[in-house]
Amino acid sequence: MLDRYTRADVGALTPDEAGRFSPDGPGDPRKDADLAWELLYRLEPELYDRLASAERLHPEVVNWLPRDVDSILEVGAGTGRLTMELIDRGQQVTVVEPALPLRRILRRKIAAAGRPERVRLLPGYFDQLPLPDDSASLVVSCSAFTPEPGHGGEAGLTEMERVCKPGGRVAIVWPNHLDWLAARGYRYLSFPGPMFVEFRSHREAVELSEIFYPQAAGEIRRRGWRRVPFEALGVNPPRDLAYKVLAS
Ligand SMILES: C[S@@+](CC[C@H](N)C(=O)[O-])C[C@H]1O[C@@H](n2cnc3c(N)ncnc32)[C@H](O)[C@@H]1O
Repeated sequence: MLDRYTRADVGALTPDEAGRFSPDGPGDPRKDADLAWELLYRLEPELYDRLASAERLHPEVVNWLPRDVDSILEVGAGTGRLTMELIDRGQQVTVVEPALPLRRILRRKIAAAGRPERVRLLPGYFDQLPLPDDSASLVVSCSAFTPEPGHGGEAGLTEMERVCKPGGRVAIVWPNHLDWLAARGYRYLSFPGPMFVEFRSHREAVELSEIFYPQAAGEIRRRGWRRVPFEALGVNPPRDLAYKVLAS
């Protein structure tokens, strides 16, 4: 991934995006992995979607989410790995995603699911959520929030809690920086069991691992894997979440 884009590609960001993801002028995506991912979302959104579709969430993470909720907000929804699980859980689901190419893919998926009336899809960022105070009973984000200011940070967590109703839940699915979240009152849950990245074919497993997990590509090719154990990739599987119930 780190060698996929060059400084010239940073021009794909809007001025607002560049200010957030490359604040000191056009950065070098060969040295800045976060910047390289932001370029992937904008330059090759379908490629990103193929990866995210293979990295499925642990079913117990999905089961843990409340059902029959009046209003849900998801932030940093990408192409909808979690969103598609939320559609039937909320009477009104608001989805915030800053990258236009990812919003386009997600809009297509929501339409294909036949539920466009339930979902409001908006541009926005963790630290500038386009919703009033106390407006969602579940505020959730999956594989998007980090303590870095460009990807949430202190201001982003405060914003998520601002729009969450009293007694509602803020949940960070597939979190990193657990200590940072624990220090802010977030409880941690992890669900056991073997987990695999479920590529559509062995061929796709080889193709995508060469891009995203080059250190594992040789083993995947040798073993003929389509389903790749997360351990072989050296990444933490999407089996966990951190959450806070706000005071009523
Ligand atoms: C790894 S993707 C995860 C997408 C999706 N939630 C999923 O699980 O497939 C990270 C997402 O966070 C979004 N993102 C990055 N910075 C953000 C910010 N400051 N505020 C909101 N979303 C952001 C990206 O556009 C991208 O969709």
